[in-house]
Amino acid sequence: MDSVLIRNGRIVTATDDYRADILVEDGRVRMIGRDIPVGGNVSVHDASGLLVLPGGVDVHTHLDWDFGNSRTVDTFGTGTRAAAFGGTTTLVDFANQTRGQSLRAGLDDWHRRAESACVDVAAHMIVLDVTAEALADMQALIKREGVSSFKLFTAYPGVLMVDDAALFKAMRVAGANGGMICVHAENGPVIQVLIEEAVARGQTDAKYHALTRPSLMEGEATHRAIRLAELAHTPLYVVHLSAAEALAAVTEARDRGLPAHAETCPHYLFLTEEAYDRPDFEGAKYVMTPPLRTRAHQEALWRGLRTDDLQVVSTDHCPFCFNEQPWGMRSSKQQGRRDFSKIPNGAPGVETRLPLIFDGGVRQHGLSPNRFVELTATTPAKLFGLFPRKGTIAVGSDADLVLFDAEEAWTIRGAEGHSRVDYTLFEGHRVTGRVKKVFLRGQVIVDGAQWLGKEGMGEFVRRGECGKA
Ligand code: URP
Ligand code: ZN
Ligand code: ZN
Repeated sequence: MDSVLIRNGRIVTATDDYRADILVEDGRVRMIGRDIPVGGNVSVHDASGLLVLPGGVDVHTHLDWDFGNSRTVDTFGTGTRAAAFGGTTTLVDFANQTRGQSLRAGLDDWHRRAESACVDVAAHMIVLDVTAEALADMQALIKREGVSSFKLFTAYPGVLMVDDAALFKAMRVAGANGGMICVHAENGPVIQVLIEEAVARGQTDAKYHALTRPSLMEGEATHRAIRLAELAHTPLYVVHLSAAEALAAVTEARDRGLPAHAETCPHYLFLTEEAYDRPDFEGAKYVMTPPLRTRAHQEALWRGLRTDDLQVVSTDHCPFCFNEQPWGMRSSKQQGRRDFSKIPNGAPGVETRLPLIFDGGVRQHGLSPNRFVELTATTPAKLFGLFPRKGTIAVGSDADLVLFDAEEAWTIRGAEGHSRVDYTLFEGHRVTGRVKKVFLRGQVIVDGAQWLGKEGMGEFVRRGECGKA
């Protein structure tokens, strides 16, 4: 493979911010320095006036995924292409166990679906049946398959939920073997009562999705999961945290020195529950779980990002179309037109994370550019056993690099995105900061609006021990 030189950029990592050239050979960073001399077969890219960032690491996506009666609309090909246009070069996506089947069967199925990936991908495993076989499989997945994190749900009874005993058993195995448990923390049974009562009263509009999933029940389940993890001696990662009560539980645990970690997502940082009141069923676009909350929760989340009580911003990219498209009603929000509880839960976002967090975080909420990189690349890579191959710019790391214009202002438009989904949560949202060029292991895959990557070029990344940042 030809060598690549990126000249004159401002390199920003989680710790450094300086001007230098980067020489890439065989897909890895070979040398960083000033005025690196190069010979003939080196392709040179001028990064003057641009930031050079490590490729984004998004540890929460659901591509080509069956979720109850629905199926997400992006294949690995289309979802990872959208990720690449947004400056993300590594995804950790969710494989899942099917009830009655083994974890291995779920992982094999995920590998088949992931063959079309255009950026590098790794897998978490969703565990539904915590049997003796599943617990043994968890160990094997960590030790031999490079799958070292497992998601369990205290929500979605009858679909994905496990009980506390199952959660605790899985935690013990993860903790003893260098793995980590990711928890979707909401009190599923109580929420189910509220949903059934609302539907029985004829309260079927999209806004009842939010009204039946109170922040208190996210706080309760987060607190419970942390206590179970403390007893089980395992690191814990709370996914898609949206509520101040949940953040308070994580903060309290971290103050006591526990390995409790949490992510939030751009939609919780920029949007509020008023979105559910949009006319013509448009509120359904914002039906994700947990739901959007109030401005007060949003402010708490920004504070958490500043103080490191929240460590990661991921997307929870779980795309269902608003209208029925060629991929069928199963992939459409229209399933829930008459009953909010039938709206597929999930929203797209894999392409807009970096510009949103740069604009909202660095320009508006006082985060440093280093902190921006830490939240979107370095800490997710560290927590999920990908570092230092991913998540930083250092000699020997994969040359996953993003040239980013910190000054370019532009408007997010769904029609210009690359996911198969037919909307964005951020239609018309103006941001400053734009991805200009993306390298995956030294190969240019995005150049402005031009796609230069191809399906299948993404590699499966085996991960190491989780929970250390
Ligand atoms: O609404 C959401 N978040 N859908 C994806 C599944 C999950 O809970 O992460
Ligand atoms: Zn979840
Ligand atoms: Zn999710």
